[in-house]
Amino acid sequence: MNRRQFTKSISLLTAATMAPLAFSNTKSKKDLAAGAVLGKGNILTNKIPSSGQSIPLIGFGTSRNISLDLTPENITKCTALIETFFKLGGTMIDSSPMYGTSEQMIGHCLKNLDYPKELFSTTKVWTRGKQEGIEQMRQSMKLWGIKKFDLMQIHNLVDWQLHLDTLRNWQEEGIVKHIGITTSHGRSHAELEKILATVPLDFVQLTYNVKDRAVENRLLPLALDRGIAVIVNRPFNGLFGYSKNQELPEYMQELGCKSWAQFYLKFVISHPAVTCAIPATSKAKHLKDNMLAGYGELPDKKTRQLMVESFKKLI
Ligand SMILES: NC(=O)c1ccc[n+]([C@@H]2O[C@H](COP(=O)([O-])OP(=O)(O)OC[C@H]3O[C@@H](n4cnc5c(N)ncnc54)[C@H](OP(=O)(O)O)[C@@H]3O)[C@@H](O)[C@H]2O)c1
Repeated sequence: MNRRQFTKSISLLTAATMAPLAFSNTKSKKDLAAGAVLGKGNILTNKIPSSGQSIPLIGFGTSRNISLDLTPENITKCTALIETFFKLGGTMIDSSPMYGTSEQMIGHCLKNLDYPKELFSTTKVWTRGKQEGIEQMRQSMKLWGIKKFDLMQIHNLVDWQLHLDTLRNWQEEGIVKHIGITTSHGRSHAELEKILATVPLDFVQLTYNVKDRAVENRLLPLALDRGIAVIVNRPFNGLFGYSKNQELPEYMQELGCKSWAQFYLKFVISHPAVTCAIPATSKAKHLKDNMLAGYGELPDKKTRQLMVESFKKLI
């Protein structure tokens, strides 16, 4: 299915998804600060320190949400989701060979969308052995339908020295633009700290949210100091259970924050070391909600402290 056919087939769905996106006529000051139009040019961006390239503060995680059977219905649904992501100004899609059919699904979706030029392609190498790593990364390119990646990350530090050696050569050859390393759930922080302190890297990906703030002590200041861009995974990590049926603090409503998802994301992306967050969702409604966190005002240091205190009252 080419883009034109695809667009026709989902036009109703897209129209339904996009219709409520324009701000209403009763715009608040904060809404106006966000710009009248959602999309490229209005979403907040950060620069990747090593390359100077700008990327939006909200990306798209794909570990479970789009790892579905590759049926035409699922491909149509995921293509619509990713099309909406791009329309709302998103660029970074994060995947891994670990995530079941995710990379294959991304490949189908990108093909349907004629490979949007805004795409910031991000995946991981997740295997042991130099040759195995090379084969896996080549396979990822095939699955995505692309010839180079904007960012290749070493997943969970697995055989990182071996893969780094390959990736340095690939970076010189232009096969990968940026190189990174990932962890999650607070794992391997001591080893990661040693790596970040000594090995030149473009990106690090780690878990950070208003409940799990361990990385604030050492890893985030270190990344800031070393000029390493930070991607935050698991920005929600079960937090909605605490805020269910709870009213958003007034100071956040005044900031233009409309939901707890935006509260959680704005907390993460307002840390000075954080370059972007990659929430995952299977729902267009949640995607829109999450993308809105990347518009308008971000909390300052004082407000971030208030957010921590407000959250502590929920648990
Ligand atoms: N070691 C690593 O490198 C590593 C480890 C973990 C994760 N990651 C990356 O980080 C991404 C994000 O992490 P994650 O997927 O584990 O968790 P997450 O993004 O923190 O949370 C995803 C969950 O939040 C729900 N959700 C999303 N938006 C919502 C909204 N606006 N309102 C209510 N619920 C919402 C989703 O359900 P719905 O589908 O119903 O919206 C889903 O259950 C992954 O997809 C992956 O790309 C990397």
